[in-house]
Amino acid sequence: MIELSVNGANILWAGDPMLRLADFLRDQLGLTGTKVGCNAGDCGACTVLLDGNQVCACLVPMGQADGRAVETVESLATHGILSALQAAFLRHGAAQCGFCTPGALMATASLLRHTPTPSEAQVQDALGGVLCRCTGYRKIIDAVLDLANADSTSRNSIGDGVGARRPRVDGAAKLTGAEGFGADLLPEDDVLHLRVLRSPHPHARFTFGDLAAFRAAHPAIALLLTAADIPNNLYGIYPDGKDQKVLADGYVRHLGEPVCALVGPAVALATILDVDLPITWTVLPPITFTASSPNLHPHAPGNILCQGRVARGDLTHAAAAVRAIINVQTGLVEHAYLEPEAGFAQRLGDRIEVTACTQTPYMDRDELALILRLAPSQVRVIPTAVGGGFGGKLDLSVQPLLAMAAWRLNQPVRWVYTRAESMVATTKRHPSRITAEAAADSTGCLTAFRFHGDFDTGAYASWGPTVANRVPVHATGPYRVGNLLCTSTAWHSNGPPAGAFRGFGVPQAAIAAEALMDDLADQLGHDRLAFRRRNALGVGDATATGQILGAGAALPACLDALAPRWAALRADAATFNASNTVLRHGVGVACMWYGIGNTSMSNPSAMRIGIAADGRCTLFSGAVDIGQGSNTIMRQIAATALGVPDDAIALVTGDTDTTLDAGKTSASRQTFVSGNAARLAAEGLRAEILRRANAGPTARLSLGAGKIEVWDQGTCHTLDLTDLPAEDGLVLQHIGTFDPPTTPLDANGQGVPYASYAFAAQLALVEVDTRLGTVRALRIVAAHDVGRAINPTLVEGQIHGGIAQGLGLALMEDYVPGRTDNLHDYLIPTIGDIPPIETLLIEQPDPLGPYGAKGVGEPALVATAPAILNAIADATGARITHIPATPARVLAALPR
Ligand code: FES
Ligand code: FES
Repeated sequence: MIELSVNGANILWAGDPMLRLADFLRDQLGLTGTKVGCNAGDCGACTVLLDGNQVCACLVPMGQADGRAVETVESLATHGILSALQAAFLRHGAAQCGFCTPGALMATASLLRHTPTPSEAQVQDALGGVLCRCTGYRKIIDAVLDLANADSTSRNSIGDGVGARRPRVDGAAKLTGAEGFGADLLPEDDVLHLRVLRSPHPHARFTFGDLAAFRAAHPAIALLLTAADIPNNLYGIYPDGKDQKVLADGYVRHLGEPVCALVGPAVALATILDVDLPITWTVLPPITFTASSPNLHPHAPGNILCQGRVARGDLTHAAAAVRAIINVQTGLVEHAYLEPEAGFAQRLGDRIEVTACTQTPYMDRDELALILRLAPSQVRVIPTAVGGGFGGKLDLSVQPLLAMAAWRLNQPVRWVYTRAESMVATTKRHPSRITAEAAADSTGCLTAFRFHGDFDTGAYASWGPTVANRVPVHATGPYRVGNLLCTSTAWHSNGPPAGAFRGFGVPQAAIAAEALMDDLADQLGHDRLAFRRRNALGVGDATATGQILGAGAALPACLDALAPRWAALRADAATFNASNTVLRHGVGVACMWYGIGNTSMSNPSAMRIGIAADGRCTLFSGAVDIGQGSNTIMRQIAATALGVPDDAIALVTGDTDTTLDAGKTSASRQTFVSGNAARLAAEGLRAEILRRANAGPTARLSLGAGKIEVWDQGTCHTLDLTDLPAEDGLVLQHIGTFDPPTTPLDANGQGVPYASYAFAAQLALVEVDTRLGTVRALRIVAAHDVGRAINPTLVEGQIHGGIAQGLGLALMEDYVPGRTDNLHDYLIPTIGDIPPIETLLIEQPDPLGPYGAKGVGEPALVATAPAILNAIADATGARITHIPATPARVLAALPR
């Protein structure tokens, strides 16, 4: 018998003393605020207090908890009132997706008990074991210091609507542990579990032996699925590019490809070893990146999936006082969101419901309907809270097999990926090999740019075509250049399928372009920032695709904002270097641009807003919030457009049965596209109210119980809602739709691929240890043209998080299939790796954006890696061309 106290309650428990405390808390007590991100002590998501000290609950066997006091995140709030610590996190936007947040809170709680007024270094020490993939940690540090030191740097929630630093609408749930992620939600009925057997080989053929005998030997298995059981065993992102099997049918193209699914009680599944399955493998030689044969897919001869091209002007006649050329190589990068994929499915009559973490519920619904050969109306997808996505949860993961199993068994089925499964089975950032060349005239004007990028899209297409098309458009960087040829090729290999990852190939291309800008400036003897400023795209300039930029192209303003910091940081670095030879400081600058939304493709969004007879207003938003804050942003926009306080609008999110299709959360599109849809919906509703009240456009609305008061020029008109006819429970409603205006690109890639572009420029100050080859970022300054910051706190949070991922890309992240399928060997930035970040929000409204806003999710990341790599070169003369810049590569590149 084990006796312990949990959040002050005494518990006697007779069970396995080796059971993990994390599992006990979640499965036995229902305290799902404690998250499991790795089950190996690597991520800190499961951090709880044991006798007041932080521990990883996944590493504590129940036997060790005997006689001890356990505190979880559920203990922090009192009667639903957030503790001061939680309130500080909320105020500062320290929780984005919120998956790491319970662990971060508990680690902080322990710190504050021992050290009530910690320094920043002590905060970093205390939170050193808690990984966060979203926030870049700075808001967490700010929140703790604000609370602990009463030295408030916080910008408290002020105002309402667009422009206000409103706290997240879903913040309280993330801070109390109440938020339901994929592994937190369970159906009411008895649930079976699903387990998949995966290929141990990157390229192989296989045959099953006697599966009937295997089933007979394992009677607890309720269902065994192979490829033959899938009605339409083919899926993929593009309608004409479906090439991926739900279960492989005798041939596997990448390590970890699923070959067979078992469904049954969790305990029974756990006793079955992979080697128990009768399967015979014929291992084939793996096909590598840019190998032309043999063909992995019949539809991709030479293993070329697709190619992209943008051409303009005449390279042969471009003037060139100076030329620069570079070859860059980048590797696989893992999304490493803290929440492994998870969910459950249940059959309700002739419908199937899938509740899972996803960035794209409507695409999932349609794809599941195709796979199961059902009508889309027979499929309902209910997104859970998403513990980070960054593009990795745009592709299907648990959904198809859960739906298939629940449909066949007519019983709920659940599946939670292990950390290793999450890493081996999901898409990655495309590895790339890039050659780029640029020229400038003697005045410092760019005259020519040539680029070719080979991108390894791995075993299946996924978002490979998106990368191949987006990269050539952006490859020059955000600069005026009249003569250019930018091409790309997406290659198949037996690598992991490469898909969407924050930037769709643009971050890799920017590394090459920004190195060239430094090289050209240096050859001309020009200041590197001034060289960029001279060539920066601005209003009225033509892009690489011939698109003339209208208002909303504020890169020059970003660079102007950076200029004084650039001069100061360079002076500081020079001073430091004058008295140091081993440690060297350097400052790098890099720019970026990013087209918002799909490339030359329709990507509409629809939003509905309505008022019920009781006067309650609801925004029905299908835009999935994966941590970036779209729930909060949509409500701020709708409230401003309707003319009511934010809190007057309730939110219904995500579910394909209750919301309209807002498209996927991807390509930095939700604020711009769905924000416009929310604005139009609310404007339409307001117009209807004003029409009924016969009031003018400046009238003030007040929503009351069963009525709306419309104040117009000192007169109050009251609309009685109680006798209006209701539809779907709403007596007044309006739908807004928005599809960014773009055009197809011609054979030379000329046209209007995006309706809006985000621009940014970042500075990085780094310290390089020339004996060890280590690089430490000391400071980042980020100037971002965001059009209009709907919520500055959330915008800053996106920028911080993007910078952290860009730092990881530059310095440490290197996924090796089969070797780094955990958060111990696959390194992502910790709180100790992230330097102070200064964000400068440049607000020049985009005429097409909702209240002028653009997206910022991907733009936040793109400039960071090139700025850091340029800073390393500035510090040491070492130009790193094989990314990440590991110590060995830095040492090898140092000038002799
Ligand atoms: S789940 Fe325990 S440390 Fe990651
Ligand atoms: S907020 Fe930290 S992992 Fe998402």
